[in-house]
Amino acid sequence: MSDKSAVKSMEEFVAWAKRRGVIWQSSEIYGGLGSSYDYGPVGVEMKNRLKAAWWKTMVQERDDIVGLDSAIILNPKVWEASGHTDSFTDPLVEDLVTQKRYRLDQLKDQTKSPDGNPLSEPKSFNLLFKTFIGPVEDSQSVAYLRGETCQGIFVNFKQIYEVSRQKIPFGIAQIGKSFRNEITPGNFTYRTREFEQMEMEFFVKPDEADKWYQKWIDARLEWYVSLGVKRENLRLYKHPKADLAHYSKGTTDIEYKFPWGWGELEGIANRGDFDLAAHQKHSGKDMSVFDEETKTKFIPWVIEPAGGVDRALLAILLDSWQHFEKGRKADGEAETLLSITPKLAAYDAAVLPLVKKEPLVKVAKELVQKLRSQGKNVFYDESGSIGRRYRRQDEIGTPFCYTVDFETVEVGDNKNTVTVRHRDTMEQERIALESL
Ligand code: GAP
Repeated sequence: MSDKSAVKSMEEFVAWAKRRGVIWQSSEIYGGLGSSYDYGPVGVEMKNRLKAAWWKTMVQERDDIVGLDSAIILNPKVWEASGHTDSFTDPLVEDLVTQKRYRLDQLKDQTKSPDGNPLSEPKSFNLLFKTFIGPVEDSQSVAYLRGETCQGIFVNFKQIYEVSRQKIPFGIAQIGKSFRNEITPGNFTYRTREFEQMEMEFFVKPDEADKWYQKWIDARLEWYVSLGVKRENLRLYKHPKADLAHYSKGTTDIEYKFPWGWGELEGIANRGDFDLAAHQKHSGKDMSVFDEETKTKFIPWVIEPAGGVDRALLAILLDSWQHFEKGRKADGEAETLLSITPKLAAYDAAVLPLVKKEPLVKVAKELVQKLRSQGKNVFYDESGSIGRRYRRQDEIGTPFCYTVDFETVEVGDNKNTVTVRHRDTMEQERIALESL
């Protein structure tokens, strides 16, 4: 193999993502919107599969976790109780010369701006997105787009506890959009103002919190590895006490080695009884459960693995992406290969008639129908040279190409067989249509 490289610069990766229909800047015809991205035809398939993989692992394969899809706009009292209207802030400073804004905690040298200019005094900037419910824009109608999905879980805890017949320990999982008015979004989809979270709140007895905290750290780390993130690009970062979020008794981040440095993929937090106790106090509703063993009531503690869909997909794509300057056989044109795990590939397979002629097209379309009826997501492509069509599929990570050629339809040993081309090895073999 020749001149193989992983992602060297984000520019080439971002260009590939756009060219191949994975991710691009939102509202591009109007010049885009700062750090807002759209997932194209290929990207949305991958993102849906990633969310489905999380849901399967966290909800469908377990007896002790149930799902939820709560509203994005909650009663504003939720965010007062959770501490977000007061404490969900970042320290904002302004370059006094250029007026550019920065998060103080992200500046290497906190005494001056990256341009070397003096900085303003830090101000606490609240990250919640404000909106108004109904036609009147006054303080009575203020509401917030949710800043994290988990508050929808906490306010539904008692309801779900009662309807799901679960016992402590058990969890509630949710995937959905969250919104934060980030001061310095950036690094492609890593930090945006609108993003998707996958959060699970696991309710435990207080004396079992440490055990579950560790269990979830281990389980969540392995999940990323199972989806093709290289172990050497992952590490755990335990937050020092002084840096913990307002709700946390302990947090460990799963970090990934992005091209610009280590960054958080997911945080696993021991939230204690902070949230349920706060909602009990503010709503006046009892959030405690009865412990059959001790015959006492208690407010469960919460262990929370909270990940980002966009960041997880970004890490998976970065670790799957390879570029070959002179082609994979060292004598051709530049090629890109996305060796993404087949579980997350946008398409399970591509079906290609060797040439756009009957009866090849008819047989190929029948094969497409057959595979679709088996639940496979299949891409059909009949135009262009077969080599180019293979390369296009390699670039978006389709694990197999099934090619219908003349041997498939002519009398002979290979009648009713197709060529299967394997993405990673480029090996080809003939396989009976029937066996697909
Ligand atoms: N409920 C806890 C919570 O929200 P967090 O660490 O603030 O914790 C969880 O967020 C995950 O959500 C992060 O690990 C990250 O993957 C994702 N996330 C947070 N802010 C984000 C942003 N601005 N852009 C993209 N993803 C973000």
